[in-house]
Amino acid sequence: MPTFPNLTVLDHPLIKHKLHVLRDRRTPVKDFRDLVAEIAMLMAYEVTKGLPTEPVEFDTPLEHMTGEKVAGKKLALVPVLRAGLGMVDGILRLVPAARVGHIGLYRDHETLQPVDYYFKVPSGREQRDFFLLDPMLATGGSAVAACTTLKKAGARSIRLLCIVAAPEGVQKMLDAHPDVPIFVAALDRQLNDNGYILPGLGDAGDRLFGTR
Ligand code: PRP
Ligand code: URA
Repeated sequence: MPTFPNLTVLDHPLIKHKLHVLRDRRTPVKDFRDLVAEIAMLMAYEVTKGLPTEPVEFDTPLEHMTGEKVAGKKLALVPVLRAGLGMVDGILRLVPAARVGHIGLYRDHETLQPVDYYFKVPSGREQRDFFLLDPMLATGGSAVAACTTLKKAGARSIRLLCIVAAPEGVQKMLDAHPDVPIFVAALDRQLNDNGYILPGLGDAGDRLFGTR
């Protein structure tokens, strides 16, 4: 398996376990949805390890103390519609004050090129840490377009969280956005002729929303 300087594979045993159920074609919609949320939460726990903290003063019932809180502006979660939506609630369980933006993109089935249809993200972009969420990084077209749009809107700090990635997509991100670290639960083997990840998990949006 190739290695990439922009890629971290989060190979926690619980993530691996949940991922094998997620991939299984027999997994029903409700379980698929729950698993996407749980994996996203576990991934966010790992990814937030690097966030800086700052001192905060307060009183316990017994005395005054100095604790620590996450520094800076609130995190912004930005799911790529539709399938990224499945990752939001799991992460909000860990970071309830995070802001949430949305980027609407779909991949044209013929050309595999991303088509954008919606963009709304929180203000204060220069100071925020953005977590861009999409379960699938396939050709990388959608992720590259989403990062380009976010940067044009002022974002300076972006991390991309995907559940499954193909080497082709990671390379495309490295070429276009080498400053954006990518965190995945698994790096798969390759894309097929239709741009689907192998072994993958199929169409994430359809499995999440039961549309096929
Ligand atoms: C899927 C997935 C990514 C994109 C990845 O979305 O959720 O956004 O494809 O493919 P790429 O790396 O080749 O761009 P899709 O376009 O199927 O839209 P949907 O979530 O609305 O179903
Ligand atoms: N989008 C998906 O949902 N699955 C893939 O395998 C590739 C793109």
